[in-house]
Amino acid sequence: MLIAFEGGEGSGKGTQIEMLKKSLANLGYDVLDIIEPGGTPVGQTIRNILLDRKDLDILGITEVFLFSASRAQQVRTVTRPALKQGKIVLSDRSFYSTYAYQGAGRRQPKELLEQLTSFAVGETTPDLVILLDLSPEVGLARKKDQNKINRLDAETLEFHKNVRDAYLTMAETNPKLWRVVNAETGVEEIHSRIKTIVFEALKIDR
Ligand code: TYD
Repeated sequence: MLIAFEGGEGSGKGTQIEMLKKSLANLGYDVLDIIEPGGTPVGQTIRNILLDRKDLDILGITEVFLFSASRAQQVRTVTRPALKQGKIVLSDRSFYSTYAYQGAGRRQPKELLEQLTSFAVGETTPDLVILLDLSPEVGLARKKDQNKINRLDAETLEFHKNVRDAYLTMAETNPKLWRVVNAETGVEEIHSRIKTIVFEALKIDR
């Protein structure tokens, strides 16, 4: 099973994935956590270009190709083999980030996003998407506190509001696949909510 975590800046995906991974491992599940962009040596190199090189003027269309390239490499060399071995794969972001950030944020055409995504991932799409929703004001303040501002965080508030709206629209449009969790509450409360959702999907009785 492939579970993707999505959300705006500072939504705490990494922390929640770590906590869920431990909970599932304690129950005997074989879990792999992955991150986008990155997750492979090629992906990590692409990640550096996309996030760290604030000196580069990367066009929106180029971003789409680079995020998709990192994804294409990871799906084939990491995600599919892990799923084949019966692992639960927890993914920190997925192509839905491209739809939100490059689609709503950078205004890149839907057709481009869908076509590149289709080539990049094929049938390997999430079985469940957990959206950690929070206002961009709160999320960006968290990131500033942690001193972790990357090239995309540095975008305008308007950009991040568009990203959030796009996520909420995707979740509303496909409630069977998406679950929305309020990410402005405490870490433990969010973890508990995520566990309920994932245990239900895995049919685990508690
Ligand atoms: P990261 O430091 O992992 O941020 P976060 O902790 O918020 O996930 O950086 C990922 C950044 O890349 C984040 O700003 C979102 C952006 N991104 C895209 O714009 N498009 C994409 O397809 C993906 C996967 C990420």
